[in-house]
Amino acid sequence: MPNEVVFDRDEIERRCEEYFSIYDMTQKRTREMCIAKTEHSRIVASNCEDIAKGQGFDRYNIDLAWIICELHDFGRFGQIIVTHSFQDTGRWNHAHLGASLLFKHGLVDDLIPNWNEIDEDDRIVMEKAVYHHSDFHLPENLTPRKRTFCRLIQEADQTDIFRTIVKAGWKTIYGHTKEEILDSDFSDAIVQAFFRHELADYSKRTTYADFHLAHIALCFGMESKASRHKIMEQGYLHQMMDIEFTHPAVEDKFQQIKAEVRKYLNE
Ligand SMILES: [Fe+2]
Repeated sequence: MPNEVVFDRDEIERRCEEYFSIYDMTQKRTREMCIAKTEHSRIVASNCEDIAKGQGFDRYNIDLAWIICELHDFGRFGQIIVTHSFQDTGRWNHAHLGASLLFKHGLVDDLIPNWNEIDEDDRIVMEKAVYHHSDFHLPENLTPRKRTFCRLIQEADQTDIFRTIVKAGWKTIYGHTKEEILDSDFSDAIVQAFFRHELADYSKRTTYADFHLAHIALCFGMESKASRHKIMEQGYLHQMMDIEFTHPAVEDKFQQIKAEVRKYLNE
């Protein structure tokens, strides 16, 4: 019975850390990027555990979700070393690369002590969840269990985006100062998409404020109540909105935007 498998999470974490430590040999920006992804994987796994508990998952399924999150960005490291970027272009789709390394080349067997005891269907659930974690739209033909895990991992991954933005700071994320952003206005197309609760079409961003609003709109990807709760508990999205725009008409729009976010997260 698949649900009787008990995972040694400490050992899995130790083996993942050992794998990540390979990248200590990298230098400067590459090393910083690798360290950031190691930290991201750990935080996403922890957030995922809380969200899975909030959704009423049992111990086995919580552990399965936690493991997938520990593994979900394994493809990032090769991508960073070769391309010095997080951009998924051409053959560098980090999600597909990670799924291939882990499940096709058998890295999971080294990382999970009792990999062979996991039910075949759940091994495929794990592979699919890694493979599709950065998809804009999931494929239609996923089984309900695969879809549940794919969505859970996507949401857990997104809960860490706001931390990443806040920690990096305005200049790093946008290439402009906070003052420059607060002095600009929002484009109609980006505001309209926001109030339809759609993730922004990045190609339509034209002003500095649009870039920030597009990031705030990422909260609309949180379908589950447990993920929304996590976002509120973390407080990073709140920090991103704890600002005041210079021009009164823009600030008025921003007040409505903030009210919409609060309403959505509390639903
Ligand atoms: Fe990722």
